[in-house]
Amino acid sequence: MGATTPNIDLHRLPHHVAIIMDGNGRWAQRRGITRVEGHKRGKDSVRAVVETSRRLGIKYLSLFAFSTENWQRPRREVEALMGLLRRYLRTELRKMMKNEIRLLAIGDLTRLPPALQADLQSTIDATKNNPGMTVVLAVSYGGREDMVQAARKLACDARSGRIDPEKIDARVLDGYFSTAGIPDPDLLIRTSGEMRISNFFLWQLAYSEIYVTETLWPDFREIEFMDALAVFQQRERRFGRILEHQEAEQLRAAR
Ligand code: IPE
Ligand code: IPE
Ligand code: MG
Repeated sequence: MGATTPNIDLHRLPHHVAIIMDGNGRWAQRRGITRVEGHKRGKDSVRAVVETSRRLGIKYLSLFAFSTENWQRPRREVEALMGLLRRYLRTELRKMMKNEIRLLAIGDLTRLPPALQADLQSTIDATKNNPGMTVVLAVSYGGREDMVQAARKLACDARSGRIDPEKIDARVLDGYFSTAGIPDPDLLIRTSGEMRISNFFLWQLAYSEIYVTETLWPDFREIEFMDALAVFQQRERRFGRILEHQEAEQLRAAR
């Protein structure tokens, strides 16, 4: 293990961390440079969190790279983002293979430029048997759109008799989302201070711990990531229950 890991208990890491990588534009604006320059710097933060996750042993990392709504941005910015993503895939493939990282992509990929679709597919194919960690790239992704496609597939399966509507429960429905087979995120990180989900995972975040930091995405590197993990480890996850010692107290009082 390279760097130190202060305040982190390596035995209690989240299995799945999801990140809304926000604030590239503001980072650039503050420096009087173009928004695209902010996105370029954001790429280095992606590299940092992927490497840190892998080194620590986090099994799933989901990165919200481009939302359904982001298609409404000026064409030049959209094109620049697509170009950056393509370059990222090309430069990182060797490292993904070396570090045994598997790449998955979720979202409406049919809207992406064909060259990017091809690069994504070839990276997914090349890395599909890598056992070290899974990076889920959410691109052209929207939580509602994911729900809609899940509902549509489920309805088709019901119509064709592949599934009995009476047998649909949360587990069955979960299998129709683009994240089927991936555990729900334990931790959601959002950079740049915004207190919203912005149509990221809606179904999957039911019991995720939420960590929002003012740090802008291009400034979010290993130390900031470690801080988020340390805060996560201080959280008390109750999942609607009461804690063991409270339960014991109640039992004592009832006697
Ligand atoms: C996040 O940074 C990157 C994407 C949404 C693609 P932004 O571009 O949203 O940066 P701000 O929020 O305008 O600062
Ligand atoms: C969320 O950021 C989407 C991504 C980080 C990819 P946005 O910048 O698009 O979200 P809003 O517009 O502030 O809600
Ligand atoms: Mg933003």
